[in-house]
Amino acid sequence: MRHLLAAFSFVCAAVLLFAGQVPVHAAGKPGTVLVTGASQGHGLAFAEDFAARGWRVIATARTPAKADELQALAKKYPKLTIEKLDITNFKQVDALAAKHKGTPIDVLNLNGAINSFRVGVEAFGPLDPARLNEILTTNVTAQLHLAEAFLEHVAASDQKKIVAMSAVGGSITNVKSTTAPAYRASKAALNMIMRAYGEQVKARGVAVLVIAPGTVDVHNYMALTDISQVPERYRRQIELRVLAPRSAIGNMIDLIDKLSVSDIDKFHQWDGKVLPW
Ligand SMILES: NC(=O)c1ccc[n+]([C@@H]2O[C@H](COP(=O)([O-])OP(=O)(O)OC[C@H]3O[C@@H](n4cnc5c(N)ncnc54)[C@H](OP(=O)(O)O)[C@@H]3O)[C@@H](O)[C@H]2O)c1
Repeated sequence: MRHLLAAFSFVCAAVLLFAGQVPVHAAGKPGTVLVTGASQGHGLAFAEDFAARGWRVIATARTPAKADELQALAKKYPKLTIEKLDITNFKQVDALAAKHKGTPIDVLNLNGAINSFRVGVEAFGPLDPARLNEILTTNVTAQLHLAEAFLEHVAASDQKKIVAMSAVGGSITNVKSTTAPAYRASKAALNMIMRAYGEQVKARGVAVLVIAPGTVDVHNYMALTDISQVPERYRRQIELRVLAPRSAIGNMIDLIDKLSVSDIDKFHQWDGKVLPW
């Protein structure tokens, strides 16, 4: 009887495969995600939303002992574990990849970066060369190093996705101001290097995607009536009403789920809109 059932399953699978109906991955199925820079902001929200959807989450933070909100998530979700990682410490990155050797990672979420708009924007006149180098190292070199270090983990997974968090400001077509030139240059370079890396690894079924997350209102500041309760670094964005809603994180998880190798030539925004490179 067992042999008959196995033969029947084999024939069904063969028929579906022949008809082109076998999905490349099980859409919406929880897998394993590694999120960098999960101590705060978007990374913390990604870790929370993936965990809430039943994913196994490997959340990295530079200083786990200070990442109180992430620690609280780890208590709430047993499948969420925290790893210490400075993404610019390449030996640490390689050691983490070695530690997780054999662990399939469905989504490598390259989120952690220097976000100038959070830590202070740089400016021309003259642009500090050391700051430019630091931003490029963190936002470009470290991102590619992570992608290469974890390639085997991603290639061994079901969903096979490397997702880099870019920014609308990385679109060369859309340049309208001179604000934060190093940050924006880093995101334009990130787009190029990930676009090229996508070509390199697509034959292995790995989709390298870049998404502009928008400025997500992860703390629901837009709901506050008293603006003085909002930290200063977010106030201008609240006044301009340019924040994306908290639900944008969930939208991005849905978007990541939908995108595949055939989308590596597009630069998506959090809501699915395609941006000019
Ligand atoms: N929010 C926006 O307006 C916006 C818009 C477009 C794109 N993005 C992109 O979205 C991503 C997340 O942005 P965010 O707003 O959530 O930024 P954020 O609040 O400033 O958080 C940045 C995260 O990256 C981590 N990080 C920075 N340097 C690191 C390093 N060397 N090693 C390890 N971790 C490091 C930080 O860790 P620590 O806590 O240790 O500092 C933090 O967890 C970034 O790639 C950003 O460029 C954001």
